[in-house]
Amino acid sequence: MAIGPERAGRPQSLSNLREAALVRTPTGIDELDRVLGGGLVPGSVVLLAGEPGIGKSTLLLQAAAGLAAGGAVGAGRDVLYATGEESAGQVRLRAGRLGLLEGVPGDRIHVVAESEVGRIVDLAQEMRPVVLVVDSIQTVTVDDLEGPAGSVGQVRECALRLMEVAKREGISVIVVGHVTKDGTLAGPKTLEHLVDAVLSLEGESNASLRLLRATKNRFGSTEEVGVFEMVESGLEELADPSRAFLGESNEHAPGSVAGATLEGARPLLVEVQALVAPGGYGSPRRTSAGIDTNRLSLLIAVLGRRAGVGLGSHDVYANLAGGLSLTDPGLDLPLALALASSMRDKAVAKDLVAIGEVGLLGELRSVPGLERRLREAARLGFRTAIVPKTRRGGPPEMPGMKVLAVANLREAIGHALADAGPADGAKAAADGG
Ligand code: TYD
Ligand code: MG
Repeated sequence: MAIGPERAGRPQSLSNLREAALVRTPTGIDELDRVLGGGLVPGSVVLLAGEPGIGKSTLLLQAAAGLAAGGAVGAGRDVLYATGEESAGQVRLRAGRLGLLEGVPGDRIHVVAESEVGRIVDLAQEMRPVVLVVDSIQTVTVDDLEGPAGSVGQVRECALRLMEVAKREGISVIVVGHVTKDGTLAGPKTLEHLVDAVLSLEGESNASLRLLRATKNRFGSTEEVGVFEMVESGLEELADPSRAFLGESNEHAPGSVAGATLEGARPLLVEVQALVAPGGYGSPRRTSAGIDTNRLSLLIAVLGRRAGVGLGSHDVYANLAGGLSLTDPGLDLPLALALASSMRDKAVAKDLVAIGEVGLLGELRSVPGLERRLREAARLGFRTAIVPKTRRGGPPEMPGMKVLAVANLREAIGHALADAGPADGAKAAADGG
């Protein structure tokens, strides 16, 4: 078979290849543009995945408004918003809540309640919008194909048709894809391989913070994350995202310890909370949110065997503040300290941050990006850090911060619970008298 004309070019040495000139259209939402790698690339297809109710439609309507306004790149542009999920009236209702009915967004965002992809493609071809939003891929179908909306065949074929129109007309297409907690939906999984970028919007629907990550990006890094807060007027960008996941309460109770994690390239401070209570009959409860339960069980075992904190018969609850869900091993240490703190009913100093992985022997292991995490913690006002001792040299120097490098969990607990704040000391004295 002959190679198509556009593929028949002569091979070029790497150094002679011309750099692809990537035009990007900023959406005007900085946190979204950051995750996209600077903006939407014309002709590309982006999948925005997330659980129902997490805020996908909200984010896209806001992005549509930003795109319509055009940012710095000249005059307003049209956006076509195809909804198979909601009626046009429901979209209008949301737009009203977001304050987008008036002005440029009101004029430039065109909504159509349409679920047949052929007709959506025709409309896009006719209108040539800068961006086509399809909300959601599970609700659209191709007429001449068997199978219900959301079936693998339909999702795949719809995506292919949308990709085709994107490439042909140079339109950026954003498709919404629902995923369930256990990821059972076939759609987005098949889609991931087809599209140019996959963004996932995460969070607890009963908490207000949202994390936007790129799990795939042909035109940018997957190291960037965006942080938003869902408020009355939609998704808002936070002035200081790295402190968003630190608990808000001024009360610093036993069982709360700050950790510093890295999400992609962005350091985030996060409050780890634990509650330990005497267990009843039967096997004790181990409940966690945002933290792997197996990891929690392991730390409980290590605490008991290697650090003298026996929780074997206690009920244990652990979570991350703000509805964040993380698997960073660097959160082992703050979690273990939070458990010990709750068990001893003694608060850890509010300006203390702990970073480190805990091994089976109770030893502390270093984690990537320690210096970056510490710098962010120092910037946010933390004055003491407990970190793993490494064989190579001492801990990084941080201006304004005392960095304690310790070898194991027992030592870490010694520092964290001995250095408890004055309020705690005063309380202990009062209790004693
Ligand atoms: P939505 O964008 O409809 O989620 P998805 O498209 O991912 O299913 O938003 C879901 C929730 O967000 C909804 O329960 C109401 C809430 N919300 C706000 O709190 N403020 C707002 O301004 C809007 C538009 C929605
Ligand atoms: Mg929606």
